[in-house]
Amino acid sequence: MTCPSCRQELPSTARFCSSCGTPCAGPAAAAPAPVAPPAEDERKPVTVLFCDLVGSTALSGVLDPETLRAVTLRYFEAMSAQIVARGGTPEKFIGDAVMAVFGVPVVREDDARRALAAALGMRRALDALNEELYASLGIRLTTRVGVNTGQVVAGSDATARQALVSGEVVNIAARLEQNAGPGEILIGPQTLLAAGPTVTAEPTGPLQLKGKRDGVEAYRLLALGADDPELLRRFDAPFVGRTTELDALGRSLDETVREGLPGLLRVTGEAGIGKTRLVREWLTRRSGAGAFAYGAGRCRTYGDHGTLAPLADAVRSLLPHTHAHLTAPGDEATDDAMALLSGGLLRDGTPNAPFEDMCAALTVVLKRTARDRPVVLVFDDWHAAAPLLARTVDRLTGDAGPARVLVICAGRP
Ligand SMILES: Nc1ncnc2c1ncn2[C@@H]1O[C@H](COP(=O)(O)OP(=O)(O)OP(=O)(O)O)[C@@H](O)[C@H]1O
Ligand SMILES: [Mg+2]
Repeated sequence: MTCPSCRQELPSTARFCSSCGTPCAGPAAAAPAPVAPPAEDERKPVTVLFCDLVGSTALSGVLDPETLRAVTLRYFEAMSAQIVARGGTPEKFIGDAVMAVFGVPVVREDDARRALAAALGMRRALDALNEELYASLGIRLTTRVGVNTGQVVAGSDATARQALVSGEVVNIAARLEQNAGPGEILIGPQTLLAAGPTVTAEPTGPLQLKGKRDGVEAYRLLALGADDPELLRRFDAPFVGRTTELDALGRSLDETVREGLPGLLRVTGEAGIGKTRLVREWLTRRSGAGAFAYGAGRCRTYGDHGTLAPLADAVRSLLPHTHAHLTAPGDEATDDAMALLSGGLLRDGTPNAPFEDMCAALTVVLKRTARDRPVVLVFDDWHAAAPLLARTVDRLTGDAGPARVLVICAGRP
């Protein structure tokens, strides 16, 4: 190969002339390497939500600019709170619209469900805000929402507020929102599929969306059922194997009863390996003959519940079996403990203060319950347990905890 400028003889692999520095038309120069997207941009499955105000121009005719601004800020705050509470990221505010993404920066298996829960939560939050706005200003706000799921190119730089997420999925979410009626939530087919079987939605018929040649399938979201694993996954197929694990659960309860101390058992394993199914199967088999009383709660990473809601659920589901005993006359300590817990933990899952008093009251109630038959408390999805719940369970299963009570914590590593 010779240099195109000074004709100097060069090796065939040279990219520059060693004599005059001119770039050479070698194989590398002839076929430039494809431009790779910046390393930090990646394709991810996400769910995008758009929420916009209906008829906001009419509002600007009724309210003075300062009041309108204050109302809009309240609306943005209320909507963003619902998104954040379910782990979404409010990404942009465009005019009166909010765009939120579920799946950035972290992709979660239930992003679509979270987005739908947020959409329904936003509608409820707007109802509450409207009561206030109607009382003070005589106005009500109405929104429409679009939700769509699919692969997007997402920048991972959370500080770059613009264009964190872009692509067709985002455009369709925006178009679904624009096609929704007042108060409606329209969702795309991938969202319906990804959100699982407890979604109630009705087809709208194919929508002709701007920029799309073919009609787009869409659904009107009506309701979202409980996110009990038993509803989201099949628990009706026959249970197979796991005899070693079933035996281990049984032994753990026997030991707890024999030693007259509280017991703690952790069931740990990867997602989908069968932890929930195993514990439920064991509870059904062993508690059938009234051998023990049990209560269960599930830890959640998002939603509107108190920090100790799983413990409140577990204790509440335990009490109906033993209610008559607990309210027996003359057992003042139990009555006092129940009164204390009813004002906090058992009311809404929020901790009673001080922490020590709450633990003492729980110990009294559980001890009383376990006097008749052993008690099993189950916490599923323990990986999502709040630190305060972990602290409370540590305390209950410590040496001063109630005897004959076994706590089972099932979760991912
Ligand atoms: N021993 C078994 N026999 C039959 N089916 C099982 C068994 N164990 C688990 N399964 C089935 O496998 C699926 C996943 O089980 P499960 O929901 O209990 O997993 P998991 O470990 O609790 O997952 P996650 O970490 O997501 O909560 C369910 O449909 C369940 O019915
Ligand atoms: Mg599980």
